[in-house]
Amino acid sequence: MTSNAHPAWDGLILGASLATLDAPQGYAEIHDAALAWKDGVLTFVGARADLPVAPQRLAREVVETGGWITPGLVDCHTHLVFAGDRAREFEVRLQGASYEDIARAGGGILSTVRATRAADEGELLRQALPRAHSLIADGVTTVEIKSGYGLDFDNERKMLRVARRLGQLGISVQTTYLAAHALPPEYAGRPDDYIDAVIEWLPRLHVEGLVDAVDAFCEGIGFTPGQTRRLFEAARALDLPVKLHADQLSDLGGGALAAAYDGLSADHVEHTSVESVKAMAERGTVAVLLPGAFHVLRETRLPPLDAFREHGVPMAVATDCNPGTSPLQSLRYAMQLACTHFRLTPEEALRGATVNAARALGLHDRGVLRVGARADFVQWNIHHPSELCYWLGGRLAHSVHAGGHRVT
Ligand code: NIG
Ligand code: FE
Repeated sequence: MTSNAHPAWDGLILGASLATLDAPQGYAEIHDAALAWKDGVLTFVGARADLPVAPQRLAREVVETGGWITPGLVDCHTHLVFAGDRAREFEVRLQGASYEDIARAGGGILSTVRATRAADEGELLRQALPRAHSLIADGVTTVEIKSGYGLDFDNERKMLRVARRLGQLGISVQTTYLAAHALPPEYAGRPDDYIDAVIEWLPRLHVEGLVDAVDAFCEGIGFTPGQTRRLFEAARALDLPVKLHADQLSDLGGGALAAAYDGLSADHVEHTSVESVKAMAERGTVAVLLPGAFHVLRETRLPPLDAFREHGVPMAVATDCNPGTSPLQSLRYAMQLACTHFRLTPEEALRGATVNAARALGLHDRGVLRVGARADFVQWNIHHPSELCYWLGGRLAHSVHAGGHRVT
């Protein structure tokens, strides 16, 4: 490392290989590269040989390294903030009970709602922090976090506030309002009244700056397409983008429903029909694959992967980190599962966890290594990017930068 009195750039890394992903296909590799940033934004992405002058005169810090650098990973679908766990439910499911059986008996999401309501803001934050650290340690620099275990105004607000506070770790946090996740006991038998309440809370949370997008669980054990539409009308009237837990356990036309509201994404999508795929392609709605939930629920029905490819629907990959269906705390592990279960190529999985995931959050300033993009990047101790999807676990990330600052 060397210092310079009048540097133009904050940092410069020399000698790594870059997977910039800055092309429609391929890793868009640059070898013996130079990567520089200033004020949180990438200022040079290219071959070392193309640097204008001697590196030592260019940056405050110059580091020589090997390995590979990719864009920072973007986890575009998580339920990271919750209290307690559902390990007992996992045991019961292993003995044959289904996720739906448990939900209908008042367990599942509602058991996490009870624990989350009982925890105050500090306790919720304390429980969420190790999960956030775990995602960051494996390369995540942007994370989406949903509410949906509060199911009343104060507790949804508490969850969203905790999500925002996780931004203090130096990563970007996008919050999603998912009050339409399950019917709380106080509204038993009155789902339409509950949706009215969810719609009434939305602008109040939005004025506090707590809502970046709106989501719903459109499913037999969740909410109907009609109820989802009512919520989406309210969201769009406030200019908030929508996304949807769509077609996870059955085909309710969720993919097309999300697309009809210019949805950023339709997520899960195992049962999505070709008609929905076409509607998503037309409106640019991203298909978010959640192989952690597929794996833990021992699902067998694959998302329509070939149809997504054929119609040009971008595919993202996320952890769905939640206490019920996907207690998964590594996005890289989700990429591995996307390759083994869904037969994504490692390149598709990496795009799915970077550029396509950013798009699923409506973020166009990240997900690739390109001059002008946010300085979110990961230095990996690997010989080829396919290794990111090859190892199950392990410590591959050497360093993680978010907005030009090292976060691990
Ligand atoms: O994305 N499907 C609904 N929501 C979550 C599960 C939440 C839970 O079981 O606590 C999901 O899989
Ligand atoms: Fe989810």
